[in-house]
Amino acid sequence: MAAIVLDGVDKVYAGGVKAVDDLDLEIRDGEFMVLVGPSGCGKSTALRMIAGLEEISGGTVSIGDRVVNDLAPKDRDIAMVFQNYALYPHMTVEKNLEFGLKLRGASKEERRKKVLQAAKMLGLEQFLDRKPAALSGGQRQRVAMGRAIVREPQAFLMDEPLSNLDAKLRVSMRASLSQLHERLGVTTVYVTHDQIEAMTLGTRVCVLREGRLQQVDTPQRLFDDPVNLFVAGFIGSPAMNFVTARLEQGEDGGLVAAFAGFALPVPAERVAERPGLDGYAGREVILGVRPSDFEDAAHAKPDWAPLAVTASVTEELGSEINVIFTIDAPPVEHKDTADLAEDATEGDDAAIPLIDDRALWTARVNARSAVRPGADLEVAVDTRRLHFFDPATGLAIGHGGAAQDGDVSLAKETV
Ligand SMILES: Nc1ncnc2c1ncn2[C@@H]1O[C@H](COP(=O)(O)OP(=O)(O)O)[C@@H](O)[C@H]1O
Ligand SMILES: [Mg+2]
Repeated sequence: MAAIVLDGVDKVYAGGVKAVDDLDLEIRDGEFMVLVGPSGCGKSTALRMIAGLEEISGGTVSIGDRVVNDLAPKDRDIAMVFQNYALYPHMTVEKNLEFGLKLRGASKEERRKKVLQAAKMLGLEQFLDRKPAALSGGQRQRVAMGRAIVREPQAFLMDEPLSNLDAKLRVSMRASLSQLHERLGVTTVYVTHDQIEAMTLGTRVCVLREGRLQQVDTPQRLFDDPVNLFVAGFIGSPAMNFVTARLEQGEDGGLVAAFAGFALPVPAERVAERPGLDGYAGREVILGVRPSDFEDAAHAKPDWAPLAVTASVTEELGSEINVIFTIDAPPVEHKDTADLAEDATEGDDAAIPLIDDRALWTARVNARSAVRPGADLEVAVDTRRLHFFDPATGLAIGHGGAAQDGDVSLAKETV
């Protein structure tokens, strides 16, 4: 096992595309690091530079205590798992698993032992004599993982390994991957465009955009404390609601966020957690509210702030209800949110929607809510969790820092 360190890494493709731009990233020994971001943000390029499959244009990549920039892939002691698992169709599962070991001259006993170990770990024991054609997609993907495991590499590098599987299988493979990582403790770098996959698998998650690092942190802290509008909108589903609001001084001296005819009081503790926020009094900010920080007022804590809305659509999910409503304000037009909308229309998650140029918001409420489509509803907001962004820069106001190394102790506990 080994740590992997990227130091000022650049990739400029022929033709001038800067796919990765000055990337600093420290992946700790034994960590499960996920690189996530929209399609084309440079995730695969970064991973392929670690693997040695792509030349590094600038900066250094180290694995363990070696700079590997000029080392061939086979000498880097890493194992790569791709979306398109290339198994040998004419070989049995067992032969597929032991192939790499055989190439490296391992003895028959050693091969047998390692293959059985890996097969057991992956639940493939009863399939050892089958050929790939007689396996399901998930089983094939597990064989591909098995081939990586038997090599006992210093690190696993995985590029969207689950994206060819159906949704249900993806969930179960996610669980297997987590388990595997827990058992083997091998440093893993995992690339995905799926923020849910990133959040469920990562010890820490690195969010990339246009080749540049946005934020590296634990999943919970990315969710609670996004560094900018882009991360705020990208992480979390349904996505964070945004609006341009005016911060005003309330009668009691506290801050109030005014928008679309509403006035949400900003609790003093939130102001204290966001140094510099009080300096925005009398100015515009972009306000962010997570769907999960709403509740039907009839079920909410008494100190949450009420908003009277009209439900346009309700999505009953069994365990909760998504209430979609318009607010009397236009959607936020900022480059960060525009990029997200563009990415969403590429066929992924819900797009940031638009009706009559009014913003559509989503509130996630209790399944026992009596809300009906078309009916008025009082929702309540947990104002201690309001997010504020600078309209010019898109940066979260008073954020504690991008925190690549910000909270080492916290991250280490989960390793
Ligand atoms: N071989 C290549 N030649 C030129 N441009 C490339 C090549 N591979 C990728 N790119 C470009 O580099 C950027 C990052 O690509 P990639 O790393 O594949 O992104 P991701 O994996 O995040 O979808 C994109 O703009 C892509 O078009
Ligand atoms: Mg890719």
